[in-house]
Amino acid sequence: MDHSNNRVVDREHFLRRFLDHVIGDESFGLLLLDRRFRIVEVSSMVCAAFGRERSQLLGREAGGLFRRLPDPLPVDRSLLRGGSFRNRSYTCRIGERKREWVLDGDLLRDEGKAIGAYVIFRDVTHLHELEEQIRRSDRLKMIGEVAAGTAHEIRNPLTAIKGFIQLLQRPLAEREMSRELDYVEIVLTELERVNSLVGEFLLLSKPKKVELQPIRIGKLFEEMLPMLRNEAVMHGVSLHYEVKPDLPPVYADKEMLKQVFLNLGKNAIEAMDKGGSLIIRERRSPSASGGVTVDICDTGPGIPEDRLDRIFDPFFTTKEHGTGLGLSICQRIIHELGGSISVRSGAGGTIFSVAIPAASVPGQELVSGGGALPSDDV
Ligand SMILES: Nc1ncnc2c1ncn2[C@@H]1O[C@H](COP(=O)(O)OP(=O)(O)O)[C@@H](O)[C@H]1O
Ligand SMILES: [Mg+2]
Repeated sequence: MDHSNNRVVDREHFLRRFLDHVIGDESFGLLLLDRRFRIVEVSSMVCAAFGRERSQLLGREAGGLFRRLPDPLPVDRSLLRGGSFRNRSYTCRIGERKREWVLDGDLLRDEGKAIGAYVIFRDVTHLHELEEQIRRSDRLKMIGEVAAGTAHEIRNPLTAIKGFIQLLQRPLAEREMSRELDYVEIVLTELERVNSLVGEFLLLSKPKKVELQPIRIGKLFEEMLPMLRNEAVMHGVSLHYEVKPDLPPVYADKEMLKQVFLNLGKNAIEAMDKGGSLIIRERRSPSASGGVTVDICDTGPGIPEDRLDRIFDPFFTTKEHGTGLGLSICQRIIHELGGSISVRSGAGGTIFSVAIPAASVPGQELVSGGGALPSDDV
């Protein structure tokens, strides 16, 4: 029996299977080019980015094809002249989704002679998102620390100012000094604005004690709906809440969770300045870990794609009197609770989805150290 021959046949078979696998892979791409820059082989992932079938691409001259893509591929004939590269980044759009890729390219040689070139594509979208999240949470952490250190220092004098200003109201009224009374009103309103900004600031500082307990989302909304409904009525928005019975309880801090849904609900209502409807829907989370997802849907104008990346950034706002802290606070809280928050938006409106872990360990209470939980008001 010829063992050596056997081994060669197995190896080729093995490599062929591997290549078939790579060619069909959705997250790893391969492109082989001949000496005249024509496509010899192309994998599924790359076909998807080109929006073509593999059969339409094989044998085609690649240079023109790359240049004419909606997002031109940064690869040209210089590759055949030895212009190898590594980690070249490329952003492409596949349908609605934006993908981040990195490309490596090099010559393909046969006994020292160049016979063509290859390009390898890796999808790093997930890594990018992770980096973005870390960047954001680092920034939030810093802001939280500054907030914890300064917010009370701002609040205390504010309380004093408010007290003394209020003392002025009576004597002014007695002397019928209506203009001065108006000034006092303005000062008080502005003080209230500073105060609520400081309040949002404090929410960003790390809460001292997170009290995780099993919570029924339906019950939580029962308590919150009157408040949201009030806000909705004032803006001419109709509010629908779709209860889903039989959902498992989630494991979260009740006050923090309320804060999240209030912020999201308020944003939705504020987005519909010409009226519309706000729909709050709960469902079982699709992931295997269980848990509940709450969708906050509005029929507002939607969020343009180039803005979607920035809405969770602290201080990003498009509103005249916005603070840009609402979504940062939501994200901070949801991460703290071990959940996730995502957004989809289009011309028909926006959906924020909040996934909260299930109460799999009932009765357990997690306590984490840090700053102070906001409690005092001016
Ligand atoms: N449901 C929504 N529809 C449209 N835009 C939204 C929605 N929610 C948030 N945004 C955008 O995200 C920005 C940031 O929101 P947020 O952090 O709550 O701060 P603020 O409400 O103070 O502006 C808003 O200014 C707005 O442009
Ligand atoms: Mg807001």
